[in-house]
Amino acid sequence: MKTSSRGRCCRAAIALVFLAAAAHAASFPAARGAGGAVATAEVDATAAGLEILRAGGNAVDAVIASALALAVVHPQAGNLGGGGFAVVRMGNELVTLDFREVAPAAAGRDMYLDASGERRPDASTLGPLAAGVPGTPTGLHLLHARLGSLPWRDVVEPARTLAGDGFRVTRRLHESIDNRSDLLATFPETAKVWLPNGAPPPIGSTKRLPLLADTLAAYAVDGPAALTRGPVAERVVAVSRRHGGILTAEDLAAYRPEWRRPIRFEAFGWRFASMDQPSSGGIILAQVFGLLERLGWAELEPGGADWFHLVAEAWRQAFVDRLLLGDPSSSDASAAELLAPARLDRLARELPRDRARESRSMVALGAPPAESAETTHLSVIDRDGNAVALTTTLNGSFGSKLWVPGFGFLNNEMDDFTTAPGRPNLYGLVQGEANTIAPGRRMLSSMSPTIAWRGDERFVFGGQGGSKIPTASSWVALGALVDGLPLQAAVDRPRIHHQWLPDAIQTESDSLSPETRAALVARGHAVVPVDFTAKVCVARRLASGLFEAAGDPRGPDAGGVVDPQ
Ligand code: DON
Repeated sequence: MKTSSRGRCCRAAIALVFLAAAAHAASFPAARGAGGAVATAEVDATAAGLEILRAGGNAVDAVIASALALAVVHPQAGNLGGGGFAVVRMGNELVTLDFREVAPAAAGRDMYLDASGERRPDASTLGPLAAGVPGTPTGLHLLHARLGSLPWRDVVEPARTLAGDGFRVTRRLHESIDNRSDLLATFPETAKVWLPNGAPPPIGSTKRLPLLADTLAAYAVDGPAALTRGPVAERVVAVSRRHGGILTAEDLAAYRPEWRRPIRFEAFGWRFASMDQPSSGGIILAQVFGLLERLGWAELEPGGADWFHLVAEAWRQAFVDRLLLGDPSSSDASAAELLAPARLDRLARELPRDRARESRSMVALGAPPAESAETTHLSVIDRDGNAVALTTTLNGSFGSKLWVPGFGFLNNEMDDFTTAPGRPNLYGLVQGEANTIAPGRRMLSSMSPTIAWRGDERFVFGGQGGSKIPTASSWVALGALVDGLPLQAAVDRPRIHHQWLPDAIQTESDSLSPETRAALVARGHAVVPVDFTAKVCVARRLASGLFEAAGDPRGPDAGGVVDPQ
């Protein structure tokens, strides 16, 4: 490759960071280039993926390099101690990999309830009892073994270098730690690394994680066995036990990712592939796009009450159905049933255009709180048009808040199960019987890594934000693919959200004109400000053959584009 490509692609990444600082201002164009695209939540991680593309790696190599880099520089969500989903299009082959965490063998349905049946405060969110068995170490390696092209050690190397040589502490990382310093200080292992001298590492300082670098070096040589067996696994189990966790060496060694068939659907002239259960994301997207197309949404006046009403009602419907979903082995419904064309025809026919439905009359249950959290989405396309959408998470920001030395934060994904019937979780989601806790079961997710294509065009998207992932992801895709907005404008556009319960349209500021708001209220919608927003990352190949990458100004996220060889 031309040596000049490095400078140009890095400037592209930096340009997007600058854009991020101008959140919600008029859109800057997305980063553009001709050799591929990487969009991730951090500049260093985007750079790692671009480095791998420049070295001749494919989209799978690049997405793994970026994901591992995030485990170093973005400990809020990047991880070895969590899990995720990848949707991949390699040539004409479409596959998804489920490396979602599972409940430990000692987990049980009522493990977070006290004797009177009440949920014990923090039990499913703070500390290692909240952790599912991590899927990332085995998942990323398996993805590479089947679909990667460069040697595994080359793909791990950028992350190892970042951990060993150090990386710059960003304002975002500093503030994330500062905002949660009380919780992070609960665990001496965490405080030692992330609150040295009782405070977050200063902005701009260099942070080194030498033990994590050693672990990544071992991972580069021995693959997942370096993490799921032997000294690192023993440390994970010991630190977890010390703080009341139930993870065992057997849990770690027994974890297996699953290849699954993607959810496939067509709408608005595009084809889509997304994630099936144990994520609800693909089913929600397919249902919402299917309903909106049937309802003639593309012909409505953008920004008007009809336009927002139909989206909100489509989301409401999809989130009621979400109650039936869970691990495929315990789910009460399949994608085939929920997405059957005759069913979508009926739902579209019955969806009232002139009034809001009442969520509690659809299914009667409780109401929600909200808390900010972290997941991270990566979108990559290589020069051949191979594409990967990968979303990975610890669930809450810094997961369980317990840092295992030389491994990283353990997730708090168990909170995604139905921990107490009828009670909302971290994202205000009220969940169903299909998603109750059982040993080895996967907790239901909202992550929505998705690839869309039309001829040679590609549109790879997904995001973070718990229950807001499918709504924000569908909103961005509708903006770019149906409304024809430029990519960055589609990501920046103010959003609305509905998730059945709470029974309200949640709005970002400037999303509704006063007239539209009044018209929605007149139809019976409660309209409230959003509590926190999702962040979406997109990579795109245009019909012209050019590539674009866009991060979310709500981030700051960083997209990058690599120039041709
Ligand atoms: O799998 C899920 O749906 C959640 N654990 C995702 C969490 C998330 O997106 C946090 N980011 N804000």
